[in-house]
Amino acid sequence: MSARYAFLVCLGAVALLGSAASPPPLDNGLARTPPMGWNSWNHFGCDVSAQLIKETADAIVASGMRDAGYKYVVIDDCWQVARDRSGRIVPDSTRFPGGIKPLADYVHSKGLKFGIYTDAGRQTCQGRPGTYGSEEVDARTYAEWGVDYVKEDWCHAEGLDAPTQYAKFRDALAKSGRAIVFSICEWGSNHPWNWAPRTGNLWRTTGDIGDRWASMIGIVDLSSQYALAAGPGAWNDPDMLEVGNGGMTDDEYRAHFSLWAIMAAPLMAGNDVRTMSAATREILTNKEVIAVDQDSLGVEGMLVREQAPDLQIWVKLLADSARAVVLLNRSALQTVITASWSALAIRGPARVRDVWAHTDLGTFTGRFSATVPAHGVVMVRITPQ
Ligand code: GLA
Repeated sequence: MSARYAFLVCLGAVALLGSAASPPPLDNGLARTPPMGWNSWNHFGCDVSAQLIKETADAIVASGMRDAGYKYVVIDDCWQVARDRSGRIVPDSTRFPGGIKPLADYVHSKGLKFGIYTDAGRQTCQGRPGTYGSEEVDARTYAEWGVDYVKEDWCHAEGLDAPTQYAKFRDALAKSGRAIVFSICEWGSNHPWNWAPRTGNLWRTTGDIGDRWASMIGIVDLSSQYALAAGPGAWNDPDMLEVGNGGMTDDEYRAHFSLWAIMAAPLMAGNDVRTMSAATREILTNKEVIAVDQDSLGVEGMLVREQAPDLQIWVKLLADSARAVVLLNRSALQTVITASWSALAIRGPARVRDVWAHTDLGTFTGRFSATVPAHGVVMVRITPQ
């Protein structure tokens, strides 16, 4: 019996299984559901500024993203240039003329939260000052600025021990006295699923995502192996979203978003939300898909059946005993995929609702079949009667 099948047999006891398999999670009370927000890196790289962050915060409100749950507005690498004589980090004064605090205040005034990026090593990935040796002063500075979320990267950390360095920053954040979500970004290189639940609220499981189907799917295959490490307050992070960045079709982006939701992944948009298309906005603000991601049971879904090598069925148990199900077609041809009740641990009749079409499809017994587009999904919520 495969591990996945064993999981299914025990579907009802999955929450219990999850807690038995993982170390006690970090108890900072934050991220009880996967964090949602926006991060500058995937679209803008180093081209960040106060202006961009303000316009993005405005667009997150105007587009309905804030009301759909996107909360943390995070500046990634390149906002920092040096340390002053006292060792305090110095923001780029051309791009952030007023410094960071007024920007955090602006983001807060929009009903959003504010996040920032650093690196556990000596320099960030783009060669800016890292946090190594300055953990306490940085955590204190961020708290003074009103930072609510810190992503800590792992470049230029040669010879350092990841669990030790990240624990140092966790403790520095706790000492700062401010409630700050801690996002660990060491790309899965030190098996974070084994120790990061004690240290951070989320941890990257892989290298960086690219805005391509093969990259996104490759990350799903890697990250989903650690599902049992995830739970409220502690999440596997398969990286930020590429939805709307132009390298995939809308069907592929719907698959990307559905898979992140079924994996209970953090939903950090990574596109230019100021200029996004209606199709991108509809994907990012689909409340029924977001509800799967944000379900209070906090279980990460899993691959449970392959109908053929490229045709997969993924399932996530929800708090009301319904199952969120993704029928994933990884092939280049539209095809029918069938999810049998035995694969979903369901008996008897069950109601099926299409969460992309926002349509009740009726009551089914034994199985549910749908035609799934190439490189696409059908995603449903199945509620046993
Ligand atoms: C690493 C991280 C990315 C991003 C860049 C910034 O590659 O994994 O998410 O933060 O650094 O330089």
